[in-house]
Amino acid sequence: MRMYDIIVKKRKGQELSKEEIDFFVDGFTKGEIPDYQVSALLMAIFFNKMNTKETADLTMAMVNSGDVIDLSSIDGVKVDKHSTGGVGDKTSICLTPLVASLGVPVSKMSGRGLGHTGGTIDKLESFSGFSVELTEEEFINNSNTIGIALTGQTGNIAPADKKLYALRDVTGTVDNMSLIASSIMSKKIASGADAIVLDVKVGDGAFMKTPEDAKALALEMVNIGKSVGRKTIGVISDMDQPLGYAIGNALEVKEAIDLLKGNGPKDLLELTLTLGSYMIICANKAETFDEAKALLLENINNGKGLEKLKEFVKAQGGDSSFIDDTNKLPKAKYIEEVRANRSGIVTKINAEAFGLIAMELGAGRETKESDIDLAVGIVLNKKREDKVKEGEVLAYIHSNDINNIEKAKHKILNNIVISNELNKEIPLIYDIVK
Ligand code: URA
Repeated sequence: MRMYDIIVKKRKGQELSKEEIDFFVDGFTKGEIPDYQVSALLMAIFFNKMNTKETADLTMAMVNSGDVIDLSSIDGVKVDKHSTGGVGDKTSICLTPLVASLGVPVSKMSGRGLGHTGGTIDKLESFSGFSVELTEEEFINNSNTIGIALTGQTGNIAPADKKLYALRDVTGTVDNMSLIASSIMSKKIASGADAIVLDVKVGDGAFMKTPEDAKALALEMVNIGKSVGRKTIGVISDMDQPLGYAIGNALEVKEAIDLLKGNGPKDLLELTLTLGSYMIICANKAETFDEAKALLLENINNGKGLEKLKEFVKAQGGDSSFIDDTNKLPKAKYIEEVRANRSGIVTKINAEAFGLIAMELGAGRETKESDIDLAVGIVLNKKREDKVKEGEVLAYIHSNDINNIEKAKHKILNNIVISNELNKEIPLIYDIVK
């Protein structure tokens, strides 16, 4: 078999066989096929697409390129949750302890932020001492005793995806449905959970810009999960404005804590309850959505979700006293108001732009090597559909550098649209794919 023939076959728009996909994934992982040939194939896939069978074969080739974690020594149905990436998305921080507080083990692998999207690990490091460096024994032990454990992507989970993703990042081939679906699902399958709930984002802050594309991506991933015996559900949710009000690591942690204290923003609460309900149903702890939602709400109201967050943070070396006293979280030196220059209704808050503004303030990484500032970011004071008067506060900038405030202010004003009337209503949850 020759890589050249595989490239030409895909360039002509033909279907690749499982053997051809295994050949290129294996050869690339071992360093036997050069980047330039794989780049050419990725571009051919980008333009000519892959069908469902090819996508499933690519996923499994990437799963088999490394270790497959065995979670069988953890009791119960292990459920994982994954978001395709968004701005202000702190859902994992409130959702995972809430679900674990109902006796569903959550053994999770999370990532760091890159570009305009944040990462759960960075956010959790706002608790001083918090670490994701768990041994396998600690990971299993924490999952069994407190019902929740979180690590970073360990070295040998889907190494083919790691290499392919790095190449896609520099060859303009990230936003292809099959490549995204296989990349996400290879890591989820290799991480060993029995059931997977996917939060597929749609909107200007997401990979998928239209509900139709988001649904197609969700279907692709759900089919892959099911084909390997994992219960998989896709929730399609809005990323046309940031989720909640806070964007930036410690600011988002505070908002997630507030939710578990019963004071969460409406959209974050609705998304948490939706994803959580499907996780509870997958774990056989409830039969209907309403039953599952009631259980989750009860554990917000009785404080059990918050207690589980404390146990989790403490078990991973973090200072859990920050949860009772959120003033201990990292804080920026300067908080600057951004005021509206006209009256009307907020009709758009560009999620991607806000992610980038937060990144420029220091909350995110431009490259994998950049340092981040956990304290900085933006807290919105208005959301889409809110009425606003000229001179009212639209947002607060949290910064440690007085020199970057004016630029951020200017960009914030340019990326919040205030109109005379609401042109269209955008739902938070578009669809559920099972
Ligand atoms: N997240 C991933 O892990 N892979 C992609 O391709 C896109 C988002």
